[in-house]
Amino acid sequence: MTIPALSSQPPIYARGPVGVDTTRPSIARVYDYSLGGKDNYDVDRAAYMHIEHVAPRYDAVARANRRWLHRVIRHLAGTAGIDQFLDIGAGMPTTLNTHQVAQYENRHARVVYVDNDPLCAVHGSALLVQNENTRYIRGDLLEPGTLLENQEVTSHLDTNRPIGLLVCGLLHHLDDGLDPAAVVRDYTTRLPAGSYLATTNFWDPADEYPELHTLATKLERAFTTSGLGPARFRTRAQQLEYFDGLHLIEPGLTQLDDWWPPGPPTRPRRPAQRLILGGVGYKQPPPPPQIHAH
Ligand SMILES: C[S@@+](CC[C@H](N)C(=O)[O-])C[C@H]1O[C@@H](n2cnc3c(N)ncnc32)[C@H](O)[C@@H]1O
Repeated sequence: MTIPALSSQPPIYARGPVGVDTTRPSIARVYDYSLGGKDNYDVDRAAYMHIEHVAPRYDAVARANRRWLHRVIRHLAGTAGIDQFLDIGAGMPTTLNTHQVAQYENRHARVVYVDNDPLCAVHGSALLVQNENTRYIRGDLLEPGTLLENQEVTSHLDTNRPIGLLVCGLLHHLDDGLDPAAVVRDYTTRLPAGSYLATTNFWDPADEYPELHTLATKLERAFTTSGLGPARFRTRAQQLEYFDGLHLIEPGLTQLDDWWPPGPPTRPRRPAQRLILGGVGYKQPPPPPQIHAH
């Protein structure tokens, strides 16, 4: 019996950034298109249509994601008093960006946007760096030692003070082999006490809504076959691992429009909108030392 030779190629767990290559769809540009942006090409619109074929009006997912992000930033920059944000996988500039929401609450709030797609950094630097409190840099979540040690980040954010770490719509693009929970833990263990992690991720609700499991599987396949690389729909238990060592604040890990909704729903929720969860974790300060009576 002949044993087939193993490929010498390393396994692909995450797709490299596409940048200005107009022959391959890019996650950032497809997302931009789904939000009604102009920074996208035919190849991106074709990839988006491929996904829409499985889940009509898929743009509802991107919009729900942005609404969630805005509510979270408002809470963090307002009530929670966070005045510095690290937004990893920030994407293309869009209508309402992190610094605009944060600085509406606190005009001194500082924001560093990061994306590994060079095109995002180019557009971002041009359009988002509107004041001395915002920066847009090219960087990778998977950078050795984490972005919290990146000099461009540390020259703008004080990593000894609480930070709002935003990792939205990104971790599901990392394949299981990269162990996204371990990647996140690398960040949260380095964050100072008083910091927050906010994250949104595709969800496979097989245990809670088995009827939606098939749609999750189809969407996972549609992302891959459209050339966008991995898009993993993970279970709630898998996503809860992202909050290891953190206190998950109310209302917990929920469908996006269930996280402190701003008012009555304006339209029925699309099935694909139910396939993404968001949550915010708080890194509590260590308890005060016990005083022992002699
Ligand atoms: C779907 S967009 C999300 C944009 C924004 N965070 C939001 O939630 O509205 C995902 C972004 O993550 C970026 N990205 C993917 N892998 C990344 C990595 N390893 N490091 C940094 N950015 C990454 C993509 O280029 C893309 O712009």
